[in-house]
Amino acid sequence: MALIKLEGVSKLYGFGDATTVALDEVNLVIEKGEFIAVMGPSGSGKSTLMHVIGLIDRPSNGRYMFEGRSVARLKPDQSAKLRRDSIGFIFQSFNLLNRLTILENVALPLAYKGMSLSKRYKQASAVLERVGIQSREYFYPYQLSGGQAQCASIARALVNNPKLIIADEPTGNLDSSGSRLVMELLTEIHKTANTTIIFVTHNPELTRYASRVVYMHDGAIIHDEKTAFGSVAPRARQVLYTLPVKTVEDDLAGVSALMKAIPSKPSRHRTKKKRKVVSRKAAK
Ligand SMILES: Nc1ncnc2c1ncn2[C@@H]1O[C@H](COP(=O)(O)OP(=O)(O)OP(=O)(O)O)[C@@H](O)[C@H]1O
Ligand SMILES: [Mg+2]
Repeated sequence: MALIKLEGVSKLYGFGDATTVALDEVNLVIEKGEFIAVMGPSGSGKSTLMHVIGLIDRPSNGRYMFEGRSVARLKPDQSAKLRRDSIGFIFQSFNLLNRLTILENVALPLAYKGMSLSKRYKQASAVLERVGIQSREYFYPYQLSGGQAQCASIARALVNNPKLIIADEPTGNLDSSGSRLVMELLTEIHKTANTTIIFVTHNPELTRYASRVVYMHDGAIIHDEKTAFGSVAPRARQVLYTLPVKTVEDDLAGVSALMKAIPSKPSRHRTKKKRKVVSRKAAK
């Protein structure tokens, strides 16, 4: 059974003329143990897709199955529990709390589990050892290098033994040695625990770590390819610069997503996709 199955998933923001189709009828199946890179220009919907898969946001339309279970109708507290127990997040800006030590930050997700404080710290400390920064457990986030801070946030994502790790541009704020540290750590986690990992990147070089690359444009998946570990995915270097020409069918698909999501009175105004200038975002 697939870990994740999205069928016709759309996500719309705003109303009327200001509507943005952030995800446009996305179909995606992710098996357990995959290591997936998601690429695409700025504004193409990568973070929105991560938020939907990670149960941070709900789709406006379509079906989402997590381990064969439909999550669309889960109540907010049920979906928060599933997220807490099964999914670990890593963000570009680390999202560590500056007033807490690294150990306290990493132990935070265990607070809901009814464990004693000493047990939580013991578990957090063991994960910090696994990511190689146990010696920094009493440091505060601002006392760490970027690479170390990201390792701490990986430790926090791991502390609940998630089935899925979602990393949205985990190396976006790191230099090349920090990026390598983080990607090698994710690779090690993937190998040893067979954790499913999805990461977003603008850096074609990082597709070397992935077993599959999904390319997005204008809220849709435009290409999806398996890749050999260790080599850069064939399309990765071109993805930011050669964009497909949009067809009338594409426009209609966006409008049809909108109509399904808003079953009440259709707007008299034509809904447009918000256009974004595709910047030649430098590979970090
Ligand atoms: N909360 C929101 N409210 C309104 N529009 C949003 C919201 N979040 C995202 N969008 C819009 O949805 C589209 C997709 O955004 P998203 O953040 O998913 O892009 P991205 O591919 O992650 O871009 P980047 O590479 O810059 O991070 C954009 O046009 C964006 O402006
Ligand atoms: Mg993003």
